Amino acid sequence: MSEATQPDRAESERIAEAIGRIVPALEEFNSYQGQDLAALNRATWTNALDEPLPLHGAGLDAVLQELAETVIPHGLRIGSPGFSGWVTLSPSTAGTAAALASTMAGAQRYFIQPFNLLEKVALNWLAELLGLPGEMQGIFTSGGSVANLVGLGAARQRAFETIGHDAARDGLPPDVRWRLYGSSEVHHVVLRAAGVLGLGRRSVAGIETDADHRINLRRLSETLAADRAKSILPVAIVASAGTVNTGAVDPLEQMADIAAEFSTWLHVDGAYGLFGVLDPRVAPLYQGLERADSAAVDPHKWLAAPIGCGAAFVRDRDLLARAFTTEPADYLEGSIGAPECRSPYDDLGEPYHHLGIEHSAPSRGVRVWAILKEIGAEGMRERVIRHNDFARHLAARAQQEERLELLMEPTLSICCFRYRQPQMDEQELDDLNEQIVQTLHAEGELVPSTTRVGGKLAIRPCYINPRTTLAEVDGLADRVLALGDALR
Ligand SMILES: Cc1ncc(COP(=O)(O)O)c(C=O)c1O
Repeated sequence: MSEATQPDRAESERIAEAIGRIVPALEEFNSYQGQDLAALNRATWTNALDEPLPLHGAGLDAVLQELAETVIPHGLRIGSPGFSGWVTLSPSTAGTAAALASTMAGAQRYFIQPFNLLEKVALNWLAELLGLPGEMQGIFTSGGSVANLVGLGAARQRAFETIGHDAARDGLPPDVRWRLYGSSEVHHVVLRAAGVLGLGRRSVAGIETDADHRINLRRLSETLAADRAKSILPVAIVASAGTVNTGAVDPLEQMADIAAEFSTWLHVDGAYGLFGVLDPRVAPLYQGLERADSAAVDPHKWLAAPIGCGAAFVRDRDLLARAFTTEPADYLEGSIGAPECRSPYDDLGEPYHHLGIEHSAPSRGVRVWAILKEIGAEGMRERVIRHNDFARHLAARAQQEERLELLMEPTLSICCFRYRQPQMDEQELDDLNEQIVQTLHAEGELVPSTTRVGGKLAIRPCYINPRTTLAEVDGLADRVLALGDALR
């Protein structure tokens, strides 16, 4: 038989059977029962999986068996109810089902098909949910890193266009100095975005914060004024709407005033905290959001969409297109466009490949659409309020308990606290709290992260997980007390 008539070795059918084979392992994993053996069994699964490249292939059955027996049981339990570390989690069920659906039926987000439409529908829903202005158009990205990159890419385009230069087309001009401005609490991906955009990580001025970890407005104005005197081009002011360390929300309204005064761009990094606007108790902190030029938000955080889902919103979509266009290509735009649209391939649909940095990309809108369709705006509001309540509840306990100390009043769903004993010095307290958290991680039931608040090591749960209940919140306080007593 010639090679041309050989069937491919990859199975492209037997879908129900294949998924059915791994579903029991996934159900078991999703119950988060028993001990987390991933680290303890590391040698076992490493030996099983880190094999030489197979020459002939082992076939689908061998793959499914390995997935069910070795990979899934040792998966990452960041969806477990007691996990509150960092700002990351496993998706809820609707998002998981939508991801599976789009993997097969919406493998590309273009052309005349529902997955293209759902990108737009979901972006519009998100904008409405978050109170972003109607003219702000979005694009889904792989997460907050790229959402910030896209927003700042648009800012870069605008800033250099004001001096008659097309930065996306011609690169950055010589003989011009520029700067971006954010607080010392901006997420480090903002610095990387500046690096990737050719602006340089060091071009981001890290303005000091006030006692509430919000940007110091006076210092921001002074820095901009001093730079203006030196003819430094202001590319953007970056506001954090929910810092990753403490959840502090920068004063957006005043930052919008300052951006207007210095004719510069206001970008809001709300990757984690933009959903906080849904809680009426903190919604006033977001006043001024409607004046932002761009904003980043991550559905794969508080909305519990599958990982790989951020969104950037930019007020001026033409600018976004100028910043990110790939220029029409013969093989793509040149090969479609029959006016009657009788085939899906007669129209690309929304041209997302000209508005961000990905050409091919998974359909992410369907995942956000599925979650919002399931729980509605009110479901999301209830979640945000519940999680903010968790942080406040824990803060109240930390204030009541002698041996706990609240290091900062929570703004959103992050609570920074620590175990304490009056006779211990700062270094001893840092060491003890670090030991407590390391023990919690080893136990695997209640898993917060740590950060530093005012130089002190803080235990930092961040509540975004729909599976978490008050039992895990109280459980964390109880366990920290018990461990602190035992370890000190
Ligand atoms: C405020 C903020 N910005 C940006 C990011 C980066 O997002 P991602 O991890 O989705 O790239 C994070 C992640 O935690 C964040 O909290």
